[in-house]
Amino acid sequence: MLAHTPVLLNEMIKYLAPRVGENFLDCTFGAGGYSTAILNSCECKLTAIDRDPAVQEYADNCYREYKDRFKFINSSFAEIGSIFTGVKFDGIVADLGVSSMQLDMSARGFSFANDGPLDMRMSSKGEDAAVFINNASEADIADVIYQYGDEPYARKIARSIINERKIDPITNTARLAKIVRSSVGFKKGKIDTATKTFQAIRIYVNDELKQLKILLEQSLKLLAPNGRLVIVSFHSLEDRIVKDFLRSNSVKIIARSKYAKLMINEAQDSEFLRILTKKPISPLRDEVLINPRSRSAKLRAAIRIGAGNDHTSI
Ligand SMILES: C[S@@+](CC[C@H](N)C(=O)[O-])C[C@H]1O[C@@H](n2cnc3c(N)ncnc32)[C@H](O)[C@@H]1O
Repeated sequence: MLAHTPVLLNEMIKYLAPRVGENFLDCTFGAGGYSTAILNSCECKLTAIDRDPAVQEYADNCYREYKDRFKFINSSFAEIGSIFTGVKFDGIVADLGVSSMQLDMSARGFSFANDGPLDMRMSSKGEDAAVFINNASEADIADVIYQYGDEPYARKIARSIINERKIDPITNTARLAKIVRSSVGFKKGKIDTATKTFQAIRIYVNDELKQLKILLEQSLKLLAPNGRLVIVSFHSLEDRIVKDFLRSNSVKIIARSKYAKLMINEAQDSEFLRILTKKPISPLRDEVLINPRSRSAKLRAAIRIGAGNDHTSI
């Protein structure tokens, strides 16, 4: 299986700033690129989560390498609140979306470049994309494509899907891509016009935005004082959720004012964040050249305000 190239890896480590003896949670294990970088950075512990059971082989490698410093749990990250009770983490990281293994393996049904079954489920459980495409109403299909894909031709595409599925159920990715391209047009050399529709259906099938909102809420409860939260997102819908969450849970620190000190003291044992990235961090040009999939990545980070000194290495 082709491994995933981790995105914004140095930047993630910079904001997570691992220290000896600390305990971390990687909510999106994938091929373990982030987990191994954290575990290699110092003598710390890490628990990794992924909803995709196919990443087990990468987790097994980590068990061999890091022994009891590493633990893997096959679950969705929306479950972290019930999985971890009475546990606090010094850092929580999530690198959202799909991995290269999922995108590149046509059998997983995410790819419009290579034909495969219309699946798109990261966990391989629950309703797949074919069930949605062949059963949902025209209005629901159009809404999903519009809302999650920001696709201006959503209604036209939904109409074509309905017409086509009357002839024969749509069960493979190549046929769906062809239907989308013939309703929107296909420009050679430009970004494939099926991209937005595929992204939208994938987000819907995996309930990605709701999962992210739950993850963020739960992470606040699981972060130790001075614990760092680092989230990498890949499209504006995700980034907006992360940005709004960080803003609405942050204490605004007005430099050196008495009021600010009072707020920080009051907030010490509560769940407030200080934002570490005023603007989202994007990959440098060199990274995009080497790994074009990194081009839309945005990293945002925050630290939980806590008793004692702030984490000085950030
Ligand atoms: C972009 S990849 C992560 C790559 C990883 N950082 C690395 O360096 O190898 C995203 C991973 O997160 C997983 N994932 C996405 N949404 C998830 C969720 N709600 N719960 C658990 N895992 C999820 C996917 O299955 C995929 O393996």
